[in-house]
Amino acid sequence: KTTLEDTLLASIRTIPDYPKPGILFRDITTLLGNARAFRRAIDELVHPYVGLKVDKIAGIEARGFILGGAIAHQLSAGFVPIRKKGKLPHETVRVAYSLEYGLDEMEMHKDAVAPGEKVILVDDLIATGGTAEGAVKLLSQMGADIVAACFVIDLPDLGGRRKLENLGVDVRTLIAFEGH
Ligand code: PRP
Ligand code: MG
Repeated sequence: KTTLEDTLLASIRTIPDYPKPGILFRDITTLLGNARAFRRAIDELVHPYVGLKVDKIAGIEARGFILGGAIAHQLSAGFVPIRKKGKLPHETVRVAYSLEYGLDEMEMHKDAVAPGEKVILVDDLIATGGTAEGAVKLLSQMGADIVAACFVIDLPDLGGRRKLENLGVDVRTLIAFEGH
């Protein structure tokens, strides 16, 4: 019997030196393209929240959109995109953040989340946690109640999970790559 972990590990492709030398890129397009792996990942991410009141899923561009959309549908929640700067048409809140290989800014529509709404943050992977921390700042600024942050992949050696947990966020990940 294959475990969830086996299924996910076997369906994720690793690309060395992408997008920069020294980075081992964990490519989930192969997981997304594998019907069984995609379903199992979504089912597992959704599982703890079934039957709870969740208002919105906030997905981080770009791969967080794909997972977040599927999770929102399963939980009958709304979906909120957190995007790279300049992509959202209405009034936004913006935050600068750093990630494993650079610096950027991300935005969320000001009216995307109402104060007190229960929100789950979703992305494909947490590395340094800079991206997720930026998203947590945006959601907190708008008064969201962050129920949890979920990721398919954790790179524990880069410390992102701890960073989020230190902000008081409940973090869930499905698999970890040590040594990254
Ligand atoms: C990757 C990944 C996470 C982020 C994690 O996204 O999808 O969003 O990096 O890194 P961190 O924990 O160090 O912040 P990327 O910035 O490559 O953008 P993309 O999802 O739009 O491809
Ligand atoms: Mg990303």
